Amino acid sequence: RSAVTVPQLHARKQSGEKIVVVTAYDASFALQVDAAGIDVVLVGDSLGNVVQGRTSTLPVTLEHMVYHTSIVARGLKHALLIADLPFMSYADRGRAYDAAMRLCGEAQAQMVKLEGAGWAVDVIAALTERDVPVCAHLGLTPQSVNKFGGYRVQGRDETRAAQLLADAKAVAAAGADLLVLECVPAALAERITREIAIPTIGIGAGPACDGQVLVLYDLLGISPGKRPRFSKDFLAGRDSIAAALSAYAHAVRSGEFPGPEHSY
Ligand code: KIV
Ligand code: NA
Repeated sequence: RSAVTVPQLHARKQSGEKIVVVTAYDASFALQVDAAGIDVVLVGDSLGNVVQGRTSTLPVTLEHMVYHTSIVARGLKHALLIADLPFMSYADRGRAYDAAMRLCGEAQAQMVKLEGAGWAVDVIAALTERDVPVCAHLGLTPQSVNKFGGYRVQGRDETRAAQLLADAKAVAAAGADLLVLECVPAALAERITREIAIPTIGIGAGPACDGQVLVLYDLLGISPGKRPRFSKDFLAGRDSIAAALSAYAHAVRSGEFPGPEHSY
C-alpha cells in the first residue's frame, strides 16, 4: 500500500540515508506528514499524553490504538505505518497475535512496535516468525514508568549500558526490523547503531542513529508541559505545518538535527 517498504528501510542502514519518522494520530495530520515526504508514521501510544491528556501511556487501550491507526491509515500514500502495541497487549504470545491481527489486519498498520527486551524477545520472535514486522523500543520505555519511578535518561552507568547493548543485540537477533532508542547517551546509541544490523531510530539518542523520531505535537511546539530537551519546535519562525514538517525532514536528512543541545 505505501511507497516505503520494510526492505527499503533495511537498505538505508547501508546507504546512510537517514530515516525520518514522526507520530500522527488522525487523517488530516497524516496527510500533511505524508505530503512532506516523511518516511515512516508512528501511531504512538504517546496519544495517551498528547491527545487524551493523560500523564502516562498506560491507560491507552488496544481499542484506542485500532481507532487511531485506522484513521491515520486513510491519510497515507507514501509513508510506512507503524502502530504501538499498548501496555500489556503483548504480555504473552497469544495476546500479541490478537493485537497484531487488529492493528495490521483491521487497522492496516504495516509494523507493530513494542517496548523492552528480556521476556519481550520471545514475543518479537513470535510475531516475526509469522511475518508481522516488529519495531523494538529500548532505553526510556514509557510503559515501564511505574518501575522506573519517573522519566529519565537510561544507560548512563557502565552496567546498564552493557545491558542495553546486549538487549539491542537480542531484539535484533529475534528478528526485529527497527529499533527505537529513547533517551540514551549519544555515545551508547552510536555504539549500538554500529554493532547491530538493523536500523536504529533515535529520540533523545544523539545524531548517530540511522533515523530520528519525534512526537508530532512536540515538533509543532503544542505539547502540554515543558519541552523535552531532545525535541525542537520546527514551527517556530515558519508559517505552516507543512513548512515545519519539511524543515524537520530536511534537518534529519542533512544531519543538522539532533544537535548536541538535543542529546545526552
Ligand atoms: O509513543 C510514541 O510516540 C513513541 C515514540 C516517542 C517513539 O513511542
Ligand atoms: Na510509544
